[in-house]
Order: sequence, then C-alpha cells, then structure tokens
Amino acid sequence: MRRLQPEEVAALREWLSRQGLRGADYREEFLGRRLLPRMEGAGFDSVRDYLASLRGRPAEQDALLSRFLVHTTEFFRNPEVWEALRAVLPRAGPGGLSVLSAPCSTGEEAFSASVLLERDRLPGRVVAADLSGTALKRLREGRYPARALEKVDRELAARYFKLDGGWAMPVPRVRARVLPVRWDLGRGLPGKGFHVALLRNLFIYLTAAAQARLVAQAGEALVAGGLLVLGRVERLPQRGEAWDVVDGDARIYRWKGGAR
Ligand SMILES: C[S@@+](CC[C@H](N)C(=O)[O-])C[C@H]1O[C@@H](n2cnc3c(N)ncnc32)[C@H](O)[C@@H]1O
Repeated sequence: MRRLQPEEVAALREWLSRQGLRGADYREEFLGRRLLPRMEGAGFDSVRDYLASLRGRPAEQDALLSRFLVHTTEFFRNPEVWEALRAVLPRAGPGGLSVLSAPCSTGEEAFSASVLLERDRLPGRVVAADLSGTALKRLREGRYPARALEKVDRELAARYFKLDGGWAMPVPRVRARVLPVRWDLGRGLPGKGFHVALLRNLFIYLTAAAQARLVAQAGEALVAGGLLVLGRVERLPQRGEAWDVVDGDARIYRWKGGAR
C-alpha cells in the first residue's frame, strides 16, 4: 500500500477535525491504513477528490469516520493484566472505587472492570467512555455473542454472565456499576478523582505528542496513588518522576500526585 503524502495527511486531518475527531492526534501510518483501502475501493486516487465526493453524503461520511474508530476488544483482554490489577487495587474511601475505562469500545473492558469490583465485593463504579455512538449503543444493550466468553475464566463467566439463546449478558449488578459516556479523549479525560484509569489500545493509533498529553491528563484525572493501566501493548511515552512502575509487564503505573 502506498504512503500518504504530507498534503494528503493534512487534508485528511482537517476533514477528521471537521467531523469532530482531533485529526492531528492520529499517526500518519494509521490514517493511511484506514483511509486508502476504502478510498481506492471507491475508485479514487486523490484524497482531496475523495473527500470532496463525500460532501452532502452523511452516510458515506459516517462510514469513513467509523474506519478510524477501531472497536476490537474482548472481555478480560490479556487476563494476566487483570490479575495483576486485582492484586494492586488501591483502597477506596466511603464512595468506593472510581474506575475509568477509556476508550471502552463496545463495553467488554468496562464490564470486566465491573466484575473485578463485584468479585471482591468492592464498592465502586466504572465510567465507560468512547467517542463512538455505535460502540456505546452495543454497551448499553449489553448483549454479546456467547463465544465472547470463550476465553473467560469459567467460574467468572458462570457467576457474572447470563446465557440466553446464544447471547451472553452481564448480570444486572455488573451492569449497574457501568456508566457509559460519549466522550472525545481529544478533550482530555471525562472527569477527575479516578482511582484506576484503564487506557488501553488507543496509543497505538496516536502520535507521540497525543500520547504524552493523554498521560499527563491521566495524572490530573487520578487521585494521588491512583493507577494508570496501559496493558501489554503500550507503555508510558516517557518515564517521568510523577509515576511509579507498579507492574512492568502489565504496564501498571502509580500516580505519585503533584510532582511532574
Ligand atoms: C481498540 S478499541 C480499545 C478498547 C479497549 N480499551 C480495549 O483495550 O480492549 C479503540 C477504541 O478507541 C475509540 N476511540 C478512538 N479515538 C477516540 C477518541 N478520540 N476519543 C474517544 N474514543 C476514541 C474507538 O471508538 C474504539 O472504540
């Protein structure tokens, strides 16, 4: 596949920004990978002509925009990360633990976090944020093909999910803890005072500058001693004095608070 030229990248970033996505945050290679197959499939060689052809065609615009919001996710993705997190969950005050799952995609990560609290009878809630209305609709429906549980620990699956006609649904007390919010992480994190922020499988799409900004914003959104969980794929873009490494494999970091 060819590479996008700088002026094409600029045109696409501008288009994305007009659609409400902070185009400058996304890496060039990612933009090209997501754009070119669709553009060439529609018979265009020129990014400008292709983007111009979308004017007045909202369904086509939405279809293109959705290519930049990759929803791949699973329940307890990288189970070892969840075990590591379970072992180091901070103590919460009377209000319970406040967990952020961002981006949450179709909800599997947020419901996994909810099960984590539920299984140890920890009071708390999970704010589940994503930019995609389609993904959040799936979360609100809370109905997943039963095979989504294939890799989940059997006891957890049996205790915290109800199976019905080929579908798996988190039980009501797991659902009740999850609060979905449509949110663009280009604007920062949705709220403050979190004890845990799961920020997984987003950095892979972002420029180094956008990653660094989000990490700084994560610090501001966490309580002192709160945990940032990046998971197996990503790591802190730069090691600062503000973070302690809690688990190097699971990429769990503790916000020391204040110091930068
Ligand atoms: C690969 S999923 C990650 C889901 C989950 N964190 C996980 O690790 O399984 C990436 C999600 O990022 C969302 N996303 C991309 N850019 C975003 C932005 N600027 N603000 C909020 N969500 C965004 C997409 O809609 C998509 O659902």
